[in-house]
Amino acid sequence: MFWLSLQSNRYGKYMIDQLTIQRILDAANIVDVVSEFVTLRRRGANYVGLCPFHNERTPSFSVSPSRGICKCFSCGKGGNAIHFLMEHESMSFVEAATWLGNKYGIQVEQRELSDQEKAWQSERESMFVANRFAQEWFHDKLRNTPKGVAIGMAYFRKRGFRDDIIEKFQLGYCPDDGESLAREAQSKGYSADVLCKTGLCYRKDDGTLRDRFWGRVIFPVLSLSGKTVAFGGRIMQSDAKAAKYVNSPESAIYSKSNELYGLYQARQAIGLQKRCFLVEGYADVISMFQSGVENVVASSGTSLTPGQIRLIRRFTNDITVLYDGDKAGIKASIRGIDMLLAEGMNVRVLLLPDGEDPDSFAQSHSATELKEYLDSHQVDFIRFKIDLLMDDAKGDPIAKANLIKEITHSISVIQDPIVRSVYITQASQQLGIAESLVIADVNRQQRDAAQQAQSDSKDRQTEPEQETEPELSPEDRLRENIRELKRQGLGPMMDRERLLSRMIVRYGDRTCFSMETENGPQDITVGQFIVKSLENDGLEFRHPVYRRFTELYSEHGAEPGFESQRFFMSHPETFVSLTAASLLEDRYQLSQVFKDNKPRNEEDHLFEVTRHIMADYQMEVVRIELLNVEMQLKDPAVISDAERLMQVQKRYQILLQARANLSRALGDRIVSV
Ligand code: CTP
Ligand code: MN
Repeated sequence: MFWLSLQSNRYGKYMIDQLTIQRILDAANIVDVVSEFVTLRRRGANYVGLCPFHNERTPSFSVSPSRGICKCFSCGKGGNAIHFLMEHESMSFVEAATWLGNKYGIQVEQRELSDQEKAWQSERESMFVANRFAQEWFHDKLRNTPKGVAIGMAYFRKRGFRDDIIEKFQLGYCPDDGESLAREAQSKGYSADVLCKTGLCYRKDDGTLRDRFWGRVIFPVLSLSGKTVAFGGRIMQSDAKAAKYVNSPESAIYSKSNELYGLYQARQAIGLQKRCFLVEGYADVISMFQSGVENVVASSGTSLTPGQIRLIRRFTNDITVLYDGDKAGIKASIRGIDMLLAEGMNVRVLLLPDGEDPDSFAQSHSATELKEYLDSHQVDFIRFKIDLLMDDAKGDPIAKANLIKEITHSISVIQDPIVRSVYITQASQQLGIAESLVIADVNRQQRDAAQQAQSDSKDRQTEPEQETEPELSPEDRLRENIRELKRQGLGPMMDRERLLSRMIVRYGDRTCFSMETENGPQDITVGQFIVKSLENDGLEFRHPVYRRFTELYSEHGAEPGFESQRFFMSHPETFVSLTAASLLEDRYQLSQVFKDNKPRNEEDHLFEVTRHIMADYQMEVVRIELLNVEMQLKDPAVISDAERLMQVQKRYQILLQARANLSRALGDRIVSV
């Protein structure tokens, strides 16, 4: 199960206990905290300012001191004080909580780690520390040693890199004697073991250490949170037989396929521009950044991996791939783009003039020229691909048939049916063939792919060893999971789960009615009502975070002094507290519940409101179930099996009855969200 793995991964053993987090959040003044980064003005009971998470002229960022939360009504970002710091300062949950603890003088005691955790933690920690040391050391050698200046700086100057950019990307130089980093680092107490594990050094046959990057200029590779995970080193002699670039090997802190060069420096610009430019190499990133196009990252010479796509998707779905004029190269890489489409990215392509790469183009044009060129030459991928292949296919029917297959394949992997249909129309016009033919071929390709996937999964079942999934962060896994549920048509159901979760978070601890029992009347809270109703019907929320709310309520709701809002808002599972914050913001239209539209306060009608939302949710469950059963009733395998058919029909009757009952309870009013 999804949450199990999530817990054992990271959240199961919290680094800070929840009481401390509650104390920190109680003490933290959200207006105070946000004011450190954003200028706020008072407006009624709240404060407003320009949103720091996207580019805007009129303030839509609102801070509510009474609730302790902030939210941008335009881009949706926000949460409590911890979330604000996490987002704004790229801190981890623990870092943000500790920061606040320090600010408000609350002692933050971190939990003892187990020995195994300590070992793992300390190995990774010491690798990061060693890398950070090396990065500063390389940078110092570049700026402050005769050879660094004469060789390294001279090289960067020749390539046109400005000093501020050399600082920003922390470029460096590794001396060419082959062992001065090893010597220096060891004298500072870094163990040979750690130096080898990071790949900064390696061991020669005689057991002594040698620097991997000797005599090269250095490009540090930073993770999204700004930690130095690897280095690229470029050779200085152009005639050398050695590789042009040497890169750090994969390690406990570096997985090449899950990092993007430049992302750390580009992340804000990508978020603001809502677009990411993708180039090939270190120099391309730096030159474009220097020319003012800061939303640029490099996959470092390989095609993009799903892990890298997910990194970009945190900021935007819009990506533009830059190609230099070499046609053979483009053709080789173009298939890789189908994966971007399949991952739901909107892909544009930009072709640079013959003989130019992003680096040379940015260096030989002014910043304005570069931006204008980028703006006016981006085309959507399907159009680009047709144009590219059309040339070869002229007057050759077989080539043209192949071209059509290539195009319909690209379209068939797009998940969004609306986007797909737009491309179908466009492609049929551009290719000069009937739309119905394109549609038929797209459908065929989708069927083939589905069949292939099925037989693949059968193969996998028989094979014992499993495919190793790229390592996803828990957050990414969660997003992936939710996207998948939406693809399955469970969006409306999860909307209703959200409304119920909202009741749990807001009013979970509030009594909504009294029940007669043998021991006299017993108060039932909103949370109990929801959790018990689900239990009675054997239902579980499908959305992992909402399900987690019900689980947490079942576990802790009955504890003395339990306060729903405080409990969920301070929960150390970031997704729980973040979602709780957003649920506290949610307005819910009572007019949707009550027919007469009289103004009411939902707090005075907790039972009616909760019961109504519950019925609405159950209605959606029934609707989905009915769809299932109706499919079964059309299935030849069911029809020919008298016993099964009877069972399915019985189920069908029960569901119809349930639907009638619910519809009466809802007063034929469907809540729209
Ligand atoms: N690369 C690599 N190892 C190599 C060659 C290339 O890792 N032997 C990666 C580097 O990340 C490089 C990218 O692939 O930046 C693109 O390769 P290339 O176009 O050859 O390098 P440039 O970035 O153009 O390098 P330069 O302009 O410095 O020659
Ligand atoms: Mn180059």
